[in-house]
Amino acid sequence: MIREVLKMGDRRLLQQARPLERFDTPELHALLEDMRDTMAHLSGAGLAAPQIGVGLQVVIFGVGQNPRYPDAEEVPDTVLINPVLTPLSDELEEDWEGCLSVPGLRGMVPRHTRLRYQGFDEKGSPIDRSVDGFHARVVQHECDHLNGILYPMRIRDLANFGYIEALFPGEDIADE
Ligand code: NI
Repeated sequence: MIREVLKMGDRRLLQQARPLERFDTPELHALLEDMRDTMAHLSGAGLAAPQIGVGLQVVIFGVGQNPRYPDAEEVPDTVLINPVLTPLSDELEEDWEGCLSVPGLRGMVPRHTRLRYQGFDEKGSPIDRSVDGFHARVVQHECDHLNGILYPMRIRDLANFGYIEALFPGEDIADE
């Protein structure tokens, strides 16, 4: 079922999400189905449970070959629960981000270029990956949602924050 995505300004987006305690339950599978439906409907690259009002440490993300992200590296479809992120480099790189909770806008956000992420999938099987580039950026963005952080809070220069149609006139760019 497609769920309503909370928008920036909703206090629920600022809360710390709780760890999930039980895996592979009907409730978790129903939550993930709703998250996938909602993300697909909005052509998003990722979604965190708090964005649909569920305060649990559950995120999904994935980017395939998508004409709306022509330059994006592919990111495998992933369910990541109770994540722990460890930067593998002090190096930060700035690039444009959007968010389904901040529709119509884009901002330039610094992120670690390389990181390791650990956590669990929906069955409770461990995930442990070291990634870089766009994959690393997507993971950092989604996991920020679990700590009540929205990307505009990380923008260093608000001159690099604005409406998509004004920043990138004539380009067909997805909302997320
Ligand atoms: Ni987001």
